Amino acid sequence: MIKKCLFPVAGYGTRFLPATKAMPKEMLPVVSKPLVQYAVEEAIEGGMSEMAFVTGRGKSAITDHFDFSYELETQIRGTGKEEYLASIRQVLDSATFSFTRQREMKGLGHAIYTAKTLIGSEPFGVILADDLCMNANGVGVMGQMAKLYKQFRCSIVAIMEVPQDQVHKYGVIAGECMKEGLFRVDDMVEKPTQSEAPSNLAIIGRYILTPDIFDIIKDTPPGKNGEVQITDALLKQARDGCVMAYKFQGTRFDCGSIDGFVEATNYVYQNIYLKSEEPG
Ligand code: G1P
Repeated sequence: MIKKCLFPVAGYGTRFLPATKAMPKEMLPVVSKPLVQYAVEEAIEGGMSEMAFVTGRGKSAITDHFDFSYELETQIRGTGKEEYLASIRQVLDSATFSFTRQREMKGLGHAIYTAKTLIGSEPFGVILADDLCMNANGVGVMGQMAKLYKQFRCSIVAIMEVPQDQVHKYGVIAGECMKEGLFRVDDMVEKPTQSEAPSNLAIIGRYILTPDIFDIIKDTPPGKNGEVQITDALLKQARDGCVMAYKFQGTRFDCGSIDGFVEATNYVYQNIYLKSEEPG
């Protein structure tokens, strides 16, 4: 039902300098696959087939990653190395890829607004690739949210409980608990101090948005850090209509931080890479 998924990938990866000086942070590999490919695979698994990217200067490696590479294909065709291309070939065969550029860094809300012409007037997913989500043997987070969308037909944010001293890193929600793990949002604050935080339920980088969000973002003034925040636009949508918050099943790694990135690498190495290497 939801065909499109948006990947805002214009941001700088300052915490990973110098690695990200000439390479997009979304291309950092967790074992041998770049973060952005995990994100696209999650969207495909969630039933989506039209991938839209908001890129920026210095991000052309992402565009190249989701294109055919004649030299490489010709070079390794018929050799034992072909298996290394299997996952990206599968991705390229399962979706289309469109790109637009955000010219100025004015926040996540502004990045999403930049994709208005790519998205049009249908509901869409949003994945922030530096939040890597894994749900071993189960449906991925975007798939879980797409299923909920069928039921509620409104914007949905994925949330997790975080320690109080971490709330300042996230958008934080408060809401009425409808059933286990599902809230109807009535408050939302971007990167609050501990005393401003309405709860310890933090938004992670997975959203389903209804297209009326574009008009709301257009009228949303810059908020925290002088940036147009999707959190502020969603709060308006929640107050005028409905926004749900969903405690997802699975594990999320904050690959925008060194600690989270190393944890993700260990997890994928132990649980995916070593298992795929086991005989039989
Ligand atoms: C963004 C959002 C924030 C959300 C976070 C999830 O912040 O603005 O509400 O909690 O992603 O990763 P960023 O991490 O881009 O500063």
